[in-house]
Amino acid sequence: MDNSNLTIINIKQLAGIISDNQLLKKGVEMNELSVLENAYLTVKDGLISDFGIMSNFNFSNSNNIFDANQGIVLPCWNDSHTHLVFAKSREKEFIDKINGLSYQEIARRGGGILNSAKHLENIDQRQLFEESFKKLSNLVKLGTGGIEIKSGYGLSLEVELKILRTIQKLKENFNIDIKSTFLGAHAIPLNYINNRKGYIDLLINEMLPNIHKENLADYIDVFCETNYFSVKELDKILEAGCKYNLKPKVHVNQFTSIGGIRKAIEYGAISVDHLEVMTEDDYKALAKSSTIATLLPSCSFFINIPFASGKSLIEKNIPFALASDFNPGSSPNGNMNFVNSLGCIKMGLLPEATINASTINGAYAMEIADRTGSITKGKKANLILTNPIESYAYLPYSFGENCIFKTMIKGKWYN
Ligand code: NIG
Ligand code: FE
Repeated sequence: MDNSNLTIINIKQLAGIISDNQLLKKGVEMNELSVLENAYLTVKDGLISDFGIMSNFNFSNSNNIFDANQGIVLPCWNDSHTHLVFAKSREKEFIDKINGLSYQEIARRGGGILNSAKHLENIDQRQLFEESFKKLSNLVKLGTGGIEIKSGYGLSLEVELKILRTIQKLKENFNIDIKSTFLGAHAIPLNYINNRKGYIDLLINEMLPNIHKENLADYIDVFCETNYFSVKELDKILEAGCKYNLKPKVHVNQFTSIGGIRKAIEYGAISVDHLEVMTEDDYKALAKSSTIATLLPSCSFFINIPFASGKSLIEKNIPFALASDFNPGSSPNGNMNFVNSLGCIKMGLLPEATINASTINGAYAMEIADRTGSITKGKKANLILTNPIESYAYLPYSFGENCIFKTMIKGKWYN
């Protein structure tokens, strides 16, 4: 049966409706989620074509009907910050952490990003693709319908290309929205440890032109942080990215505030990500910009650092997305349902705010909000259907439980 034309009936709550062309939410709007109780939704040619309340549904006009059986329907998660393409898990460092070492201490002992880079160097392209395919496929079953994936565990021309080509292949093999980001400036590799300038020159003069030649990146990222890349280096790398039309989406303010937010905004950054440590000046710069903040609560949870203050961003009318930061070091799980739970439990956000941040605002942070991220006529039918549950608030409330019955991508059930 062709599932791309069908009507889902008996939806207990149809949540995340946006009827105009609003591309993001901020401030008080974050706490508003438009919902229809006891609803139907019709899909045509992979797009949402109609929805309404069951009492207005005309059965005689439809032959392909799917009974939601009192499940809830909402837009798919748009996870705008991940490092999904990696070669090996790092549970040894997890034990080190339990034994009292910090994220920075583990990195100093040769763990961390450099450890992942070593493993990526040794894995062949095919195996890397197969493992990445499995990871992504699991996430789609958990409701992710749009995702950004970064390189950054290569740190050499060859291995950065290997990661970006893998992301390219994922784009070709999945129907979901995928954006790829070049993160060559994730760490200084061991062979350049006494020659930072040499590595940055390699990144600018070798990596960027080759990536451009194969059209492998949509965005550019830098880990701008004490002991990683300075604001001056961020400036230089973003300037080089500009020449290839790569807009920034950057790691800033994870452990320290060193001015990366202001600099990224100067370059028209789409998003500034992490933001666990913020100053008044950082907020001021953001409030005046069109850059969206991206908060990563599962990273805070996993490495025991402060949670970013979503509530301050709401107060200051600054838009933000929530994302998983899926990576083997600081967030070894890409489950956006858990991210929503953490948003509520650890950041004090309402379920409405976490859902907005993970759907429409996640889409904005990947520049796809005009075609996905909400229940809107004409947008892609990228939908989550839950098991029968009382309300959408049950999703973040029942942390760790998988409430998702099916994910629909462009009008087709994925599972
Ligand atoms: O977003 N902070 C930098 N990068 C990743 C972690 C990378 C790693 O530890 O492998 C992050 O948390
Ligand atoms: Fe990250």
